[in-house]
Amino acid sequence: MTKPASTTGAGLRDVVAAPSSICFIDGEKGILTYRGYNIHELAENSTFEEVIFLLWNGRLPNRHELAELSAALVANRKLPVELIGLMKSFPCEVVPMDALRTAISALVFYDPDRNDNSLEASKRKAIRLTAQFPGVVAAIDRIRNGKEPLDPNPELSHAANFLHMLNGEEPTDIEARALDIALILHADHEFNASTFAARVTAATLADVYASITSAIGALSGPLHGGANEQVMRMLLEIGSVAKVDSYLKDKLASGQKIMGIGHAVYRTEDPRATHLRKMSEEIGKQQGDTKWFDMSHRIEEIVVAEMTKKEKPIRANVDFYSASTYYMLGISVDLYTPIFAVSRISGWTAHVLEQYANNKLIRPRSDYTGEVDLKYIPIDRR
Ligand code: COA
Repeated sequence: MTKPASTTGAGLRDVVAAPSSICFIDGEKGILTYRGYNIHELAENSTFEEVIFLLWNGRLPNRHELAELSAALVANRKLPVELIGLMKSFPCEVVPMDALRTAISALVFYDPDRNDNSLEASKRKAIRLTAQFPGVVAAIDRIRNGKEPLDPNPELSHAANFLHMLNGEEPTDIEARALDIALILHADHEFNASTFAARVTAATLADVYASITSAIGALSGPLHGGANEQVMRMLLEIGSVAKVDSYLKDKLASGQKIMGIGHAVYRTEDPRATHLRKMSEEIGKQQGDTKWFDMSHRIEEIVVAEMTKKEKPIRANVDFYSASTYYMLGISVDLYTPIFAVSRISGWTAHVLEQYANNKLIRPRSDYTGEVDLKYIPIDRR
């Protein structure tokens, strides 16, 4: 039996799968850049709309280009009435990520470019999808709570409009900016599981909707986007700072993983966690209650110290402090992963467009470890 020449370790760790000019990560130094711009610069100075332009076009927009993209996003926010009807037929206890996957997949029926797979049509689909994602997530939540989905407010930014469509109230400037920064921080992360899933699907020349549906499926797992929900469930289960130490003692002794800590690429602090830690503390202070931040901080301290002792230096990742931040913004715990997707749609579509522009079918080989040369035994002799 001739085996393929090269094999790799489990999970394709450190394998470079293709060239890409969208996102760079230095896991050793804790550096994350989008199109050459450090995430710290973008989180401090930019807006999510500007980052969308950057990811899609490879450069920052001028004033006119930003206004044009923002207007296109606003113009495409409203959901087709047929989609709202479909979402109303979902069971009330639906898991939001399942509803999101189904709703986004169904949006293709109402896309005027659905039969056109050209690069130009795919760019228009990327705008529509990015514009509609917040409305879909908000509608899922409102419908399951017996409320009518709300119309978008064209006066509001992408982040502020999402909170308005979700809660029925205009957010404060601080709340809108907190979400805006969270969207910037989650927008892209190179060849993570969901983005790679999107690229594998796009590489078959399946359309943007099929690619994004694959990505949503991959994002829903607890080892990827699902981790921030698990972090908040853990904080709620623990309940107070005083109980953190004993809770973790048992978990760590039995070798259980603590969600929101550790990363497949970063060997030092995840640079996104730096901003979310600060944000969690600031919102807590602004609301006069830093309990969720304090608990998170104590968990981080203990796990980092414990794992460093075992020479496994893991740190908080993007999901760890986004949990308490979203909780304090009044967002339901099971919407944390859909919100990740509201941001990541920008990166997913940038990668799908990059894949189309220079496509090669992605088709690795397996390292076969099964039996060989077996002789067929008739069923009555087995
Ligand atoms: N809690 C406790 N131990 C952890 C851990 C965690 N959150 N994350 C990693 N470890 C342990 C691993 O079990 C491993 O121990 P071992 O050598 O005895 O097997 C060691 O630390 C090194 O792990 P590492 O190789 O750095 O991580 P990985 O690439 O195998 O896994 C994750 C990366 C993200 C899957 C893993 O850290 C994890 O499951 N984290 C929690 C889920 C999460 O937050 N996911 C979101 C990622 S953005």
